[in-house]
Amino acid sequence: MEIDSLINKTIAFVQSKLKEFDGGHDWFHTERVWKLAKSICAKENAGNLLIIELAALLHDIADSKFHDGPESLGGDMAYDFMINEGVNKESATHVREIINQMSFKSRMTEKSISSIEFQIVQDADRIDAIGAIGIARAFNYGGFKNRAIYDPEKPLQEYSTIEAYKKSDAPTINHFYEKLFLLKNLMNTETGKAMAEERHLYMEEFVKRFMKEWDGKA
Ligand code: ADP
Ligand code: NI
Repeated sequence: MEIDSLINKTIAFVQSKLKEFDGGHDWFHTERVWKLAKSICAKENAGNLLIIELAALLHDIADSKFHDGPESLGGDMAYDFMINEGVNKESATHVREIINQMSFKSRMTEKSISSIEFQIVQDADRIDAIGAIGIARAFNYGGFKNRAIYDPEKPLQEYSTIEAYKKSDAPTINHFYEKLFLLKNLMNTETGKAMAEERHLYMEEFVKRFMKEWDGKA
């Protein structure tokens, strides 16, 4: 099948699936990850572009935060879609692996070692969680979950299980310390590292300023 037509069909499929989810997790997140992944692939001059595009586009079609099914649901749905569209088994299997590895659990572990395609798509997804976009997404998610923006009485927490993370009512500022500030050191590619550096500094400035204003000092 023509690659362009496969990508267009994939976009339509993903858009129909994502309609069910919240605003910070919508098609535009996927579109940004897709663009970031393509540009990291070009800068690194590495990886199979079709695998990268398919994995980026399909990576969030069934986020486990929004359903009670198994973590592997998204990967399985993506696999069935690809096989239906005539993608060969080997490529479809690789894309499914990337999607499954990007699920929540692997994000809590140290740097992943896997294919360059996985590394690039994971970097793209992590970059979209930081910087100005990352700040906006965090507060959007916090609002969706009806969480406070900040509460000095609520300590930072580590989550040992997915259930604890899903149930948490921690304020959104905590999320910066629990996840967003950690992402810079988890980047796989040199291109990803450089992009994360700038976005990280921007978030640090934001939180500094936030605390000053909280205390009425600015
Ligand atoms: P992604 O789609 O980038 O893989 P997630 O599914 O983990 O990321 O989360 C979607 C968005 O919601 C991200 O921008 C993330 O930072 C944000 N988010 C996730 N958990 C929280 C939380 N507890 N508080 C605030 N924002 C959160
Ligand atoms: Ni994502």
